[in-house]
Amino acid sequence: MSPTAALSPFVAGTWRLAERGWSAAQTLRWIEATAEAGVSSFDHADIYGGYTVEALFGDALALAPGLRQRLQLVSKCGIRLAGHPRGAARVKHYDTSRAHIVASVEQSLRELHTDRLDLLLIHRPDPLLDAAEVAATVADLKRDGKILAFGVSNFSPAQFALLDTHTPLATNQIELHPLRREPLHDGTLDQLQQRGLRPMVWSPLAGGRLLGGDESPDAQRVRWVLGSIAARLGVAPATVAYAWLLRHPTRPHPLIGSMRPEGLQEALAALTLTLDAQTWAELWQAGAGQALP
Ligand SMILES: NC(=O)c1ccc[n+]([C@@H]2O[C@H](COP(=O)([O-])OP(=O)(O)OC[C@H]3O[C@@H](n4cnc5c(N)ncnc54)[C@H](OP(=O)(O)O)[C@@H]3O)[C@@H](O)[C@H]2O)c1
Repeated sequence: MSPTAALSPFVAGTWRLAERGWSAAQTLRWIEATAEAGVSSFDHADIYGGYTVEALFGDALALAPGLRQRLQLVSKCGIRLAGHPRGAARVKHYDTSRAHIVASVEQSLRELHTDRLDLLLIHRPDPLLDAAEVAATVADLKRDGKILAFGVSNFSPAQFALLDTHTPLATNQIELHPLRREPLHDGTLDQLQQRGLRPMVWSPLAGGRLLGGDESPDAQRVRWVLGSIAARLGVAPATVAYAWLLRHPTRPHPLIGSMRPEGLQEALAALTLTLDAQTWAELWQAGAGQALP
């Protein structure tokens, strides 16, 4: 069984939560409706919303005792932002020291009003990462029940392999969509498939650029092809974009960035849509501006 089997097939992103300006009751309604629809896993990071999102989410959770048991909470650490009291940094930098990882996890647990994270990720590859130190820290956090699983985000295959030799990694959370195809060809997804691991995919709609707001030739081509495939199949363009990800044999967990109910439904519709290889290649080609070699 894959180590991310506890996560729902889609995972709800919380990066944009602070922008909504919701009360705790409104946030709770969004969490409950999302979980009710089958997306029970939520993706956080200590730094989201300038270190505010975990507390917004946790304050909502505190209104509904028992809800936590039905959710899986993912968070990330390892980035320190400049200009924030909590980042306590002169310059933005990465910090994967034991002291920082432990302090960040403790803070996430307090703010989320929970005693454990279902999955902790190192947010970005730290050039100064000491794999043995991280592995020992992870072992202690697991022993104390503070994290149930551990993985990484945005790691190259070599960076993943190094840390994985010290502590088993559950996933690599990566950016993947027709405008960012590198993980398909640089060994990132091959490595996960070889290990029987499922990637998590962030910004599956390129932050919305697949559907609007980006007038570059590449984005326009992808948008046009998404639209024509969607019309052919009778689904929404966003559904086709998610289905393009789900077609990969590693069975990715895409993160849903939209917080609208329609955005959620358009994502879930992809679970019953299997693209054939030609349709998949049409979208690859639209992103690349050339046919597969
Ligand atoms: N590990 C990392 O380094 C990393 C980096 C970035 C993000 N993430 C994670 O990935 C999650 C998702 O990222 P994302 O928010 O960039 O995802 P996304 O799905 O690529 O983009 C979502 C954005 O697209 C907009 N959008 C426009 N048209 C849409 C449509 N038809 N359907 C759905 N959305 C549409 C949404 O607006 P509406 O809300 O109006 O629909 C929203 O602003 C984040 O919440 C975070 O948890 C991780």
